[in-house]
Amino acid sequence: MRKKKIKGIILAGGSNTRLFPLTATTSKQLLPIYDRQMIFYPINVLVKAGIKDILIIVAPEHSGQFLNLLGSIFEKYNIHIEFKVQKIPRGLADAFIMGEDFIDEGNVAMILGDNIFEDDLGKAIGKFEKGGMIFAKEVSDDPRRYGIIEFDKDGNAVSIEEKPENPKSNFCVAGAYVFDNRVIDIAKKLKPSKRGEIEITDVNRKYLEMGELHVEKLSGEWMDAGTFDSLLETGRIVKEKEIYKKFDPIIDMAIFEFNKELKELAKKRLR
Ligand code: G1P
Repeated sequence: MRKKKIKGIILAGGSNTRLFPLTATTSKQLLPIYDRQMIFYPINVLVKAGIKDILIIVAPEHSGQFLNLLGSIFEKYNIHIEFKVQKIPRGLADAFIMGEDFIDEGNVAMILGDNIFEDDLGKAIGKFEKGGMIFAKEVSDDPRRYGIIEFDKDGNAVSIEEKPENPKSNFCVAGAYVFDNRVIDIAKKLKPSKRGEIEITDVNRKYLEMGELHVEKLSGEWMDAGTFDSLLETGRIVKEKEIYKKFDPIIDMAIFEFNKELKELAKKRLR
């Protein structure tokens, strides 16, 4: 059987109030991580996985800025970017409902726009065929901020809970998920949680119950740049570990060309 096509979704919506006032003028995912905008990191994960079709879900107030940066930057490189505006954040799992037509009959890799990975997830994502796949990272700081995954003594995942008060482990579910096409129906049947959102954790749990959830453990750094401190720290780690030097050459080339164009335009304006 031919392998199903896999498409990519990046979540870059939300109101990002934790980073206010920075996010009063731009989106969190357009803020810099060292020498480039944050959004290039999740794009890189997908491009490294060989994904050519990417849907970016954005909030209405900053949609124009996303279009300015990404509307044509990959034109020459056979990478197609589409946008969808999410007026009200309804939870991470809403990405699969909003992206139903885009996903079509294929599989989907979804990345949170503020998650930065040192490991190359592209290889695992590129090999995906069926079921669900998530990535877990053991953390030393407070795990109550995240989805938490518990393993039995043989290393099999046994439970997943969203931001539990008493975490059963220190393994967090990182913000990269790969699912087969059934995820659309699964997401549509979800009931909103206490915070009124349809939770990605409930999708993961459904695949776990079906016995079809594969968990990859991350060994490198994993960062969620959603607060002032983590934004600063992420930039520092990216520089120190030279993560910014490990982009797919297509992305480096596209950024280089785009910057050159911007500089030429600026020179013309100065004349
Ligand atoms: C979300 C997910 C959580 C996951 C985290 C990773 O949390 O709900 O399961 O561990 O992303 O960054 P949020 O950042 O929306 O609070």
